Amino acid sequence: MRAHLLGIEGMRVEDIHTLLTNAMTMHEVSERVIKKVPTLRGRTVINLFMEPSTRTRTSFELAGKRLSADVVNISESASSTKKGESLLDTAITLASMSPDILVVRHQASGAPHLLARYLSSTCVVNAGDGTHEHPSQALLDCLTLMRHFGEIPTGKTVAIVGDVAHSRVARSNILALSLLGNKVRLVGPPTLVPSDLAHPRCFGNRVTVHHSLGEGLKGADVVMCLRLQRERMTRFFIPSLEEYARHYGVSEKVLRIHAPEAVVLHPGPMNRGVEIDSDVADGERSLVTLQVQSGLAMRMAILVTLAAIRGAGTSESSEGGAI
Ligand code: NCD
Repeated sequence: MRAHLLGIEGMRVEDIHTLLTNAMTMHEVSERVIKKVPTLRGRTVINLFMEPSTRTRTSFELAGKRLSADVVNISESASSTKKGESLLDTAITLASMSPDILVVRHQASGAPHLLARYLSSTCVVNAGDGTHEHPSQALLDCLTLMRHFGEIPTGKTVAIVGDVAHSRVARSNILALSLLGNKVRLVGPPTLVPSDLAHPRCFGNRVTVHHSLGEGLKGADVVMCLRLQRERMTRFFIPSLEEYARHYGVSEKVLRIHAPEAVVLHPGPMNRGVEIDSDVADGERSLVTLQVQSGLAMRMAILVTLAAIRGAGTSESSEGGAI
């Protein structure tokens, strides 16, 4: 693995296996009464979040704190970008304070890649860039499936349902799940799931596109529901929320007919009654809470692994599993 985590694109399958294995050892820390280990003592992690976030920001913060790193959080409203400073100037200023790891979420696709090019001694982690990638989400989703199925997910059929076109979660998951040897179906209306996504030049030949919900769900092992990313839509992509929900909303009734064995993932935030019904979100097949738990463990694994690669970890941390 390189000394940044910018995307799943370019990662090797062994890198994903290493992170999954390391993350499995991190769960135990969160089950202790004193949820802290000294692995990253004396290291600094800056979380720079230029877009709203609940799960990702909180879990990166807790991950750093549980590993004893010094953690600083900066949000857009509290940063000097409000006074006209560019992202690059903000990042160079922060880098001058020698953080070991900079976790960045930004509305512009490619923003973390730009920072990684300029920051020579800081590891950059992409916590979601525009419509491009959200690698830690895909990795935590794989970890969730690993915990559920008892092995690294491979040979499964995963239906990703909803606004694939605007989703960085979808892109990173398509890359990660297909790299691990799963079949990925993309399901939604043509405006949100263009047929070209099935072209082998896009994601290889493991991806198929389905505009009928029933056909896309048929016999799936895993169903991943995605929110309509209306903040990224520049045109009208759906006639109305009601009509969208009627055709593509995932309900228990629909799952019982087409994918009775499927488990369900959702990265959050959920819009209940639109892309997912409450009977699914709160039901037995839902892995949503497990996803949040896995998010913390995976982000701990990412911080430890990067610090170790960078030679910045303590001797105990270089194995990851020594925690
Ligand atoms: C996702 C994101 O921000 O891309 N959320 C998350 O990180 N858990 C998905 C979304 O916003 O719909």
